[in-house]
Parts: sequence; C-alpha cells; structure tokens
Amino acid sequence: MNAVVPVRSGKAKARKGLNGSLRTLAGKSPKDMIPKVRRPQFAFSEAQDIPRYWWDNDPVKTLLLAAMSASFPPGERFFIDSVRHYQDQITDPELKKAIKGFIGQEAHHSREHELMNGFLQERGVDLARLEQEILGFMNLLRKHLSPERQLAHTVAVEHFTALMAEEFLLKYDALEQMDPRIAPVWAWHAIEESEHKAVAFDVYKAIGGSEFTRVTEMMIVSVLFPVFSAVHLVQLMKEDGQLGNMKSWLGAVNYMWGRPGVFRKLLPSYFKFYSPNFHPWDHDARGLVEKAKKKWLGDWG
Ligand SMILES: [Fe+2]
Ligand SMILES: [Fe+2]
Repeated sequence: MNAVVPVRSGKAKARKGLNGSLRTLAGKSPKDMIPKVRRPQFAFSEAQDIPRYWWDNDPVKTLLLAAMSASFPPGERFFIDSVRHYQDQITDPELKKAIKGFIGQEAHHSREHELMNGFLQERGVDLARLEQEILGFMNLLRKHLSPERQLAHTVAVEHFTALMAEEFLLKYDALEQMDPRIAPVWAWHAIEESEHKAVAFDVYKAIGGSEFTRVTEMMIVSVLFPVFSAVHLVQLMKEDGQLGNMKSWLGAVNYMWGRPGVFRKLLPSYFKFYSPNFHPWDHDARGLVEKAKKKWLGDWG
C-alpha cells in the first residue's frame, strides 16, 4: 500500500525571503511575500485503507472537514474570479505578482480537493451533492452582487480561512491527529491560505473598496458560513448513520469551544477584522508556517 505522497512538479514559481520591509502602497503585506505556487499531486486512489474517519477516528471532526472540502472547488473559483475582475486595474508590481500567486494557489487547491472529494465520494460520502448546492449559491452571488461586494465576500472568507489555517490547523494538534496520508493535504492548504491571506484584501484596498461593504459582507459571511457548515455536517452525519453519536458530537464541541477550544480562541482575531485599521498581516504567522512547511512539506515546501 502506497502512502498519499505529494509529488512535486519542479515548476514552483517562488519568491524567497521572509524579512522584507512593508509595502506602503498596497498595505502592510511583507514586500517579498509572493504566494508560492506548488503543484503537489496527492495519490488518493492508492490509499484505500485510510480509515473512514481519518481525523482522530471521529465522525464529526472528519465530516466537518469533508463538508469544507466540498465547498472549496466552487468557492475558490469564485474567489479567483472576484480578484481577477480587478487584476487589470492593479499597478503595484508586487501586488500584481501576488495576485498571480493567489490565483495559482487557489486553482491548485480546487484541483486537489476535487480529487479528494472524488475519493471520499467513492467511499460513500456524498460530497458531490454538497458541491452542487454550494455552486448554486456561488452562482447566485455572481448574479446578484456587485463586483465590489463579490470581492468583499472573498476578503471576508479569506479571513476565515486564514484564521482556521493559522489559529486552528497549524497551531494545535489537528494535523497530528489525522491519518498521515491525509494530513499533508490539509497542511499544504493551510500553509498557502496563510501565505496569500492578504492578497484579496490588498486588491480591495487598492481599488478603493468601501469599508461599509467590507464590514457588512463579513457580518453576512459570519452567519452563512457556520449555518452552511452545520447543515452540511448534520446531513453527512445522518447519511453515515452517526447522527445520534453523542460521544462524537460532545467531543467535537469540547474540542472547538471547551478544551483546547480552538474556535473560542480564534474569536479575538476574528473581531479584529471589524477595525478600520485592520490588515491581515497584523497577525504575522510566518513562524508557524515555516515550522509547518518543514514538518509537512519537506523539500517541496
Ligand atoms: Fe484555498
Ligand atoms: Fe484562500
């Protein structure tokens, strides 16, 4: 049995260096923090003996992440398009490069999560239906929201994903609790979410996006994101015959809100988004990311 091994294409577009000065035009993003486009290929089909509940042998934890994985392909396509809409208006050369990195990273996330979702679908976890529902929702946003609000939506969700990446997946022992063939997928995704966390925000600022739209869109996302996640989790738990598994529900609630309380502890960082002076790089997690790169990505990081 082969492990899920990331295979590097050798074509990474990278700008190295971590201690750059701060940008003045586009905000506070480190000047040389250009998101690096990696091209891992995870061999899911060769890892059929991965346990059904690959995170901590726990249905709630595993299916929560599975539901999120279903949302990535349609969600990340939306994020790319909302940024791409303004790409030609950006003149700052560093930000132009960062946009390319952002698009490349998100495109590869979608690709690998599509493969992961297909792998889980074959094992009877119906993520295709979830993906279709989310695609329908994203199409509604495309149809009814202005390009500015669509970008504000991306900025808000990117804050969520960066928080979850830095304050949850990389900081605690979640990755260690996962099957070692699944963990690198989430580690890679979390690392890159942290690397590109400010790109949509910097574009939003560069095009003069309104504060009202940014803040109100975050309020909307803060309701929709947990509601969608909870509904989808309940559906998957029901389909897996685990809806009445109180041990799993209580354990997961405790993990999120009790001890260690990973969601509870990220609330202060979440609320900083509402400050008019907020910038994603106010929270510098490069130390955490570097450690995770060494541990989970090895020489392809
Ligand atoms: Fe992503
Ligand atoms: Fe992202």
